[in-house]
Amino acid sequence: MTTEDAVTAEAVGSLGGTDDARLRTLLTSLIRHLHAFARETRLTQREWETAVEFLTATGQTCTDTRQEFILLSDVLGLSMLVETINGHSDPGSTESTVLGPFHMTESPVRALGADIDLVGGGEPCVVSGVVRAADGTPLPGAVLDVWQADPQGFYDVQQLDVQPPGNGRGLFTADAEGRFWFRTCVPSAYPIPTDGPVGVLLKATGRHPYRPAHIHFIVSAEGHQPVTTHIFVAGGDYLDSDAVFAVKESLVKDFVPTDDPSLAAEFGVPNPFRHARFDLVLERS
Ligand code: BEZ
Ligand code: FE
Repeated sequence: MTTEDAVTAEAVGSLGGTDDARLRTLLTSLIRHLHAFARETRLTQREWETAVEFLTATGQTCTDTRQEFILLSDVLGLSMLVETINGHSDPGSTESTVLGPFHMTESPVRALGADIDLVGGGEPCVVSGVVRAADGTPLPGAVLDVWQADPQGFYDVQQLDVQPPGNGRGLFTADAEGRFWFRTCVPSAYPIPTDGPVGVLLKATGRHPYRPAHIHFIVSAEGHQPVTTHIFVAGGDYLDSDAVFAVKESLVKDFVPTDDPSLAAEFGVPNPFRHARFDLVLERS
């Protein structure tokens, strides 16, 4: 009679002909952990079928503009775990966090100081900072790819009929002293998409779908490792219960209420406004 352990040993043994050593390591470990999971939970045939149906529906929900598998990885904490395993290790460098599904490869190029809020209606805000190397040297020409949801919590790509393309997005180049600044509106918390299998999973587990208010960044500079990160609005909702587990303390920033007509005029925003400061440190590559 085939024992449970014999099935595992046979499945692992079948990988002996895998030429790629890393692939063999990954698949061996995957089989061992999957089998251990089934043994530990005494997985039933019906539960196995439900899992297959769920994963099938997850795949069928994916389109060119929607990645339900990444969303599943996000809500299970796997994306954040992989991010943390591979993230930046130098203590002083800017911490990374998840990319999320709403990044576009081509954010519109904008001049320093430009407004990424093409629609208006939100609370005016300026984000400014300096990009530096680990030794404190500014990094002129650092490139900052920035994207955020509108005040209602939607990205432009989720509302192609409502928002102009590029709303909430900008590609900025830091000046000769590594400085950057841009105008926007204060972001709001928003729910991740719940109209697919991931929504079913959240509902079944009594979890809310919200992400705390944030602005995404990918920052790169010659000779340095790019960092994919966010800034979160201090004091906002859901900082302690992000649906995708992506909050890191160092990335929570004050969006300081500022009543200063001359500074507002300098930045080209109405007074009063909110001002978030985000200084970044990149690791050498
Ligand atoms: C986002 O912040 O854009 C995001 C991240 C993970 C899942 C869904 C959305
Ligand atoms: Fe986001």
